[in-house]
Amino acid sequence: MTQEELFKKLIAHSKEYGFIFPSSEIYDGLSAVYDYGQLGVELKNNIKRYWWDAMTKLHDNIVGIDAAIFMHPKTWEASGHVGAFNDPLIDNKDSKKRYRADVLIEEWIAKQDEKIEKEVAKAAKRFGEAFDEQQFRTTNGRVLELAAKRDAAHAKMAEVLNANDLAGVKALIEELEIVCPVSGTKNWTDVRQFNLMFSTQMGSTADGASIVYLRPETAQGIFVNFLNVQKTGRMKIPFGIAQIGKAFRNEIVARQFIFRMREFEQMEMQFFVKPGTEMQWFEHWRQFRMNWHRALGFGDDRYRFHDHEKLAHYANAATDVEYEFPFGFKEVEGIHSRTDFDLSQHAKFSGKKIQYFDTESGESYTPYVVETSIGVDRMFLQVFSAAYTEEKLDNGEERVVLRFPAALAPVKAAVLPLVKKDGLPEMARKIVDDLKFDHFVQYDEKDSIGKRYRRQDAIGTPLCITVDHQSTEDGSVTIRHRDSMQQERVAAADLPTIINNLVSLRPLFDKLLK
Ligand code: GAP
Repeated sequence: MTQEELFKKLIAHSKEYGFIFPSSEIYDGLSAVYDYGQLGVELKNNIKRYWWDAMTKLHDNIVGIDAAIFMHPKTWEASGHVGAFNDPLIDNKDSKKRYRADVLIEEWIAKQDEKIEKEVAKAAKRFGEAFDEQQFRTTNGRVLELAAKRDAAHAKMAEVLNANDLAGVKALIEELEIVCPVSGTKNWTDVRQFNLMFSTQMGSTADGASIVYLRPETAQGIFVNFLNVQKTGRMKIPFGIAQIGKAFRNEIVARQFIFRMREFEQMEMQFFVKPGTEMQWFEHWRQFRMNWHRALGFGDDRYRFHDHEKLAHYANAATDVEYEFPFGFKEVEGIHSRTDFDLSQHAKFSGKKIQYFDTESGESYTPYVVETSIGVDRMFLQVFSAAYTEEKLDNGEERVVLRFPAALAPVKAAVLPLVKKDGLPEMARKIVDDLKFDHFVQYDEKDSIGKRYRRQDAIGTPLCITVDHQSTEDGSVTIRHRDSMQQERVAAADLPTIINNLVSLRPLFDKLLK
């Protein structure tokens, strides 16, 4: 199965089992907008809990807020989003399709890498055991030629994007002979800047309505509340403010399912530090956030850092945490050193003094900020694609299993009476009643036990609890583990402890604090 086929299956599975639906599907959906279904919302909430607790509970110098989506329009002038939150777009005149110009170039670069890998694979096949990959990569003429073309394109792209040289971006597209994937032609328009913010009107027109924006990042709600939180919370630098909330971007090219959406959710934390210490904190948060991802156990080699070549208008250092999705390594999270740009800009535009008074040194200064910013939906896609597994069993049957870390699984346990009589359903219902205040559990009595196991595997339930005739005699039940499919007999009275231990976030946090 190719990675593309795998991704298609994963999308179909997420819909079939109530994780994700296209938005307003009865009207044929709305491009790049999705709804979370009955299990999707549970998984999403658990991801948010993992983030929120790791940032706020584990750090006594980080507190949370929940700011409004609408903000005073001046916010976005101050932050630079009105002037500079743009993507370079280009249209193909034949297909009438619109593309992000930088993405077209990035895809061309990725293709050179694919060609190199093909050359390596061909040579490995030809030379067999004697193949020295390292030597081949550093000496083969074709590989060196492709790598040189790739690196030159990369350097040129960084140069023209950093200089906002739109004619240069188009010239590079022409030089690389990039064709439209739909029409196959090189008939391109000029490259233009396109502002990604959605706007709407607040108040009635008669009253003189003003334009407000749907926030394109949650961070600004934190910056404008810096003084409120610092003063009321008596926070001492260094300290952080965390927030989870919706953000909106009118993405030019929205694709890859929930990877790039027009309405999405962010989990952001702004860490306020003394100027001059920001690089040390940048390193700290870079490592902490990578550890947070790796603690989930999907495999360390599926993550990597990608340092930015083109820095956002507010940053002096930036890196992405990338995860290996079925469509390649892609950004899940950004860690940015934002300097004092935002606080200084808000001070300038609001006319308010936004500074911190350091009681120890007796000096006032505008704090610098290190930000960690992760998309909830991208994280959801990471967890879902890492967990999705198709397995052939020893008995020849196949199963689809979602190997979610137990702490993130939407349903923690399913309680299954073996038959629908002899007091088994009653006992099973009682177990559900005992567990339901602490955990999301399901009761299921329909179909054979094997079919019920498969249904729970397909939604990633870590434990199935079977109630049989022995249960009514001695109060014991069988628990079946999702991944190993091993079964064991335990006392029903021990179930709350067993499940608490299994689904706790604590083992993940222990790894983080090591
Ligand atoms: N405050 C900084 C900021 O917003 P960003 O790199 O533009 O930085 C941060 O976005 C994260 O938000 C990304 O790493 C990604 O996970 C998520 N994100 C951004 N745009 C998105 C979109 N259109 N759809 C889904 N997630 C998105």
